[in-house]
Amino acid sequence: MREDGADERQIFDELCEAGKKDVPYGRVLSSMCTAPHPIAAKAHRTFIRTNLGDPKLFPGTAAIERKCVEMLGDLLHMPAAPGYITTGGTESNIQALRAAVLSHGRVDRAKANVIVPESAHYSFEKASQLLGIRLRKAPLDDELRADPAEMASLIDKHTVALVAVAGTTEFGQVDPVEEIGKLALESDTYLHVDAAFGGFVIPFLKGCQPKFDFEVPGVSSIAIDPHKMGMSTIPSGGLLYRDEHLMQPLEISAQYLTSQVQTSLAGTRSGASAAATYAVMRYLGRDGYRNIVAQCMDNTRLLVDLLSDLGLQPVIEPVLNIAAFHAPARASGRTSGPQGDPQGDPQGIRKRLCDYNWYVSTTVRPCALRMVVMPHVSEDVVRAFAADLKKVL
Ligand SMILES: Cc1ncc(COP(=O)(O)O)c(C=O)c1O
Repeated sequence: MREDGADERQIFDELCEAGKKDVPYGRVLSSMCTAPHPIAAKAHRTFIRTNLGDPKLFPGTAAIERKCVEMLGDLLHMPAAPGYITTGGTESNIQALRAAVLSHGRVDRAKANVIVPESAHYSFEKASQLLGIRLRKAPLDDELRADPAEMASLIDKHTVALVAVAGTTEFGQVDPVEEIGKLALESDTYLHVDAAFGGFVIPFLKGCQPKFDFEVPGVSSIAIDPHKMGMSTIPSGGLLYRDEHLMQPLEISAQYLTSQVQTSLAGTRSGASAAATYAVMRYLGRDGYRNIVAQCMDNTRLLVDLLSDLGLQPVIEPVLNIAAFHAPARASGRTSGPQGDPQGDPQGIRKRLCDYNWYVSTTVRPCALRMVVMPHVSEDVVRAFAADLKKVL
């Protein structure tokens, strides 16, 4: 830091220059975030000074957070579910497993395990490291869903939790939560559902809406991220519990604060996220989200049609607004990579797309090209992307 301060114009010139280097969302098909709704951004700015780590100093903002949690609970079939606004899916998943471990009674951490599908987000690796417990990864079925029989075979007396995913990061698949819920009840095990992505999509789908939330007996907690398909500002996550007693083990005494106990992972935490999430949920209502999801699903289908014409087949029929495609097999002699690679070259295509200023990602198993059709991926964006992909291929 320099001795003398700079003037505002100079600072904002520097900031704008830096911001110009960022990729505009209109070129991004790899992200699960999008530009926040203007009303969320406005509410965020209005509440920027608030700290929900000390809620009795901010009772108005704390009340907004409670209303926000109630709206999320209502969406997840349990309006009275306790919870709080987190910084996102990672914090929610860590806190859910922390609650599972703490509510399990006496746990031998060296032996304790959590059973997750192979498709689970890497935040569960972080949780397992932090909590000193093992992750047991259950293989998926042919449609890349968690296989309840495989999960059942991994349960033992040291299992503290099961995890199901409603909207997997790579393929947007929804696990059979009803069956996994039965397993949780039969084995008397905590069940956390990671709906960080799908929580703001599944309830608004036209037609088939797989059951994934508190409607399913056996579900103990749910992660749902307003900063993904909820159109709120970053950082906004949601963590909800079926019951107060599942959240209580997280209570830590915080004597120097006005509230005495804290159940969040972060200490100081912004009320701006709660205000932004409240504002956008109130503004859009269920109808607004239905329209957004309908548009994303239409554009996902358009993407599948256009890419099929280019010879790219989807790995699974998209369930949500995420599509992954097998790369076309490379013809011998036509590519710079290993000759005649029958698997195609998703990484190579991804890199060549960067030359056209398009950003997609790749999946691991199977290795495929992955695209997330967020609200900023409009019909025009899909068509322009497909035209450039044709050149790349
Ligand atoms: C299913 C799922 N869970 C959790 C997370 C982690 O969310 P965050 O990056 O907001 O911490 C992600 C992120 O993409 C996700 O897709």
